[in-house]
Amino acid sequence: MKPTTSPVKARAHTNIALVKYWGKKNEQLIIPQNSSLSLTLDQFYTDTAVQFRDELAADQITFNGQLLTDDGQRKISRFLNVVRDLAGISMHASVDTVNHVPTAAGLASSASGFAALAGAASRAAGLALSSRDLSRLARRGSGSATRSIFGGFAAWNMGHDDNSSYGYPIEETVDWDIAVVAVVLNKTAKKISSRQGMRAAVATSPFYGAWVQTATRDFDTVRQAIADKDFETLGHVSEENAMRMHALNLSADPSFTYFNADTLHAITLIHELRDAGYPCYCTIDAGPNIKVLCREPAVTAVVTKLQAAFGNDAVLVAHPGPGLTFITD
Ligand code: PMV
Repeated sequence: MKPTTSPVKARAHTNIALVKYWGKKNEQLIIPQNSSLSLTLDQFYTDTAVQFRDELAADQITFNGQLLTDDGQRKISRFLNVVRDLAGISMHASVDTVNHVPTAAGLASSASGFAALAGAASRAAGLALSSRDLSRLARRGSGSATRSIFGGFAAWNMGHDDNSSYGYPIEETVDWDIAVVAVVLNKTAKKISSRQGMRAAVATSPFYGAWVQTATRDFDTVRQAIADKDFETLGHVSEENAMRMHALNLSADPSFTYFNADTLHAITLIHELRDAGYPCYCTIDAGPNIKVLCREPAVTAVVTKLQAAFGNDAVLVAHPGPGLTFITD
């Protein structure tokens, strides 16, 4: 197939990892140290349109209406090189991305961003990839993007090379009443990228080996909890897993953390809600923001308590979301 003569537009949603990826075995191919498992969310997503065009002398990338020139542009161009290699073309591309996620604040905009880009760029280059191959391609941009090709509960099989490291669906249509309350505590970009953070954890945390062992066990437990619709086990293990990931950072040399004072305050509030009988559990990615897993009957109590502490605008309610879609205007 040939590159398309009009832009291809794709939409992908963010996902929140319940069993986290935190460390690579291969930095260039982004092969992780452990398999991970996530829930794709309906509220936060990225729309990306791509067209490869003969007349362009360089990739032209706009992000939320702004032309990118710096590191952001290089990262996307490197990713487009992977697509060009796959398709056997050399044309540059115009890329137009609109992000409906607070960027780089630990709400995993790179997951939706590279999943949408993988979809739009591959199709615009004339490729017709399977979901698995799309997930392998998305992985080359950002590990967490591997899982955003799929809706609902999805996993990333760590594998050992480019072929064997891919995403797959666990339960694409979630037919139970899971909700995720997101608390945005800081919208500014993080100081330590996930790439730097995980590199430091792998290289210097004395607990890294224990992390890989427990995360591997957590994967099986959470997967079974999803099959059993056992929310308490799913929530409990997800929260433990998140705390252990962050313990790697605190135990790195030099020590660092993505938490701020509000993060600790929010964790305390969730523990108080649990003590008061509301089954709710928190998870945190590479940023200060908190995501609270709960079931529908607990949403009002969780939202009310978090809004009282952090303001109405800081609290958003999300539900399981869909996988990659192509948009025809
Ligand atoms: O894929 P990256 O580079 O955005 O790293 C994601 C790391 C975490 O969000 C913290 C965990 C995960 O599995 O998504």
